[in-house]
Amino acid sequence: MSGNSQPTAAIILAAGKGTRMKSALPKVMHRIAGRTMVGHVLANLAPLGSALNVVVVAPGMDRVAAEVAPLPIAIQADQLGTGHAVGCARARLGDFAGTVLVLYGDSPFISTATLQALVARRAAADNPAVVVLGMRPADPAKYGRLILDKKGGLDRIVEWKEASEEERAVTLCNSGVMAIDGKSLWPLIDRVDNKNAKGEYYLTDIVELARRDGRACAVVEAPEAELMGVNSRAELAIAEALFQDQRRALAMEEGATLTDPKSVFFAADTKLGRDVIVGPNVVFGPGVEIADDVEIRAFCHVEGARIASGAVIGPFARLRPGAEIGEGAHIGNFVEVKNSIVGAGAKANHLSYLGDADIGAKSNIGAGTITCNYDGYLKARTVIGAEAFIGSNSALVAPVRIGDGAIVGAGSVITRDVEADAIAVSRAEQISRAGRARDFRAQRQKLKQEKAGRK
Ligand code: UD1
Ligand code: CA
Repeated sequence: MSGNSQPTAAIILAAGKGTRMKSALPKVMHRIAGRTMVGHVLANLAPLGSALNVVVVAPGMDRVAAEVAPLPIAIQADQLGTGHAVGCARARLGDFAGTVLVLYGDSPFISTATLQALVARRAAADNPAVVVLGMRPADPAKYGRLILDKKGGLDRIVEWKEASEEERAVTLCNSGVMAIDGKSLWPLIDRVDNKNAKGEYYLTDIVELARRDGRACAVVEAPEAELMGVNSRAELAIAEALFQDQRRALAMEEGATLTDPKSVFFAADTKLGRDVIVGPNVVFGPGVEIADDVEIRAFCHVEGARIASGAVIGPFARLRPGAEIGEGAHIGNFVEVKNSIVGAGAKANHLSYLGDADIGAKSNIGAGTITCNYDGYLKARTVIGAEAFIGSNSALVAPVRIGDGAIVGAGSVITRDVEADAIAVSRAEQISRAGRARDFRAQRQKLKQEKAGRK
């Protein structure tokens, strides 16, 4: 059977308390590039098309269950060790006979290619019962050590706590990830006991047990960066930095210009077209899609937004979820756009709030325009047609419609619909008095001199 046709299932362990995070949030719910750690694991796993994935959680981890839905969860009532945790998924996996992957919810960077390599190795002629993903970290620290036999096969895994000096000197470490023969998994798990330094059921023991049965076990190696686990806020920050560096490099490799890569922050799902230019200090939240030839100038915050080709955003613009910026549109400094469609070639260049609005093609939104979309209870929509002109400092009180080609005079408060090609102005009439300014200055000047004379 080839590696690709081998049916796979996966068990993702996420029941650990994550005490070192000092958090009310389960560890795997902490985010890297806007995506939860368990979300990263599942995203990297997805291309394998596994038949069945089960996430093992502790009681009360409802947020993890909601995050991974519709995947089933299995509850591990007490955290008795990794072997016990895998055992908790048994009812869900039933008698699945393909390759079972075991992943950790707090090791977010394991790549699809590495998972495929594990599955492929499992399908090799020696039919290994267990294929363990190994790594050679710069600091092997307290990882379990992979002990090889003379032929380079995997003999056993020894946990750091029970390792001898000699074993601790081994640099090949256990990442924790494994691919296991589904037909042997449960009989092996049944034989794991907790007679060890930690009093835990070690998943790692299945290697020695399989070898005793005369089965082969094997190691596939992957880079440390893919296998790092996150146990603390400091490690979370390191993971974030690692991700960002890789994402920036990828963006440039795929044809985007980043003026100052170090100051651009991506979300895990950011999509960038070609010849996109991103200035310094730009932050992308989740759900951003940017077409070709878009320029995002310095200091923009963009989240849940789609930007069509040729648009120019910023500097200092904020695009919030539901912002759809049309081809060649301009969103300038201190403009906030939320849940709004900005038509092709439309411009909102200065100091505006556009919320729950449709703005037609080539319309011009003057400086300081506000769509008043919220009355304290409900949101309402502002609809502006094509080639309309909204004068500066206008308040458009939604629900309201401005027709194609209409003009709104600066400083207006628009509460009623404006028909196409009409001019609407709503502000106090202007009064001018000829010469009055000159008279006023003369009068004040005189008064000032009189006051000074009295002193
Ligand atoms: C484990 C390995 C060790 C390896 C290291 C890599 C064992 C016995 N040891 O050690 O060889 O070098 O990972 O990081 O497997 N979990 C549960 N339920 C439990 C215990 C753990 O779901 O009862 C989950 C945790 O949430 C975590 C993962 O399993 O995602 C690993 O558990 P952890 O206790 O961190 O294992 P280590 O002692 O680090
Ligand atoms: Ca760990």
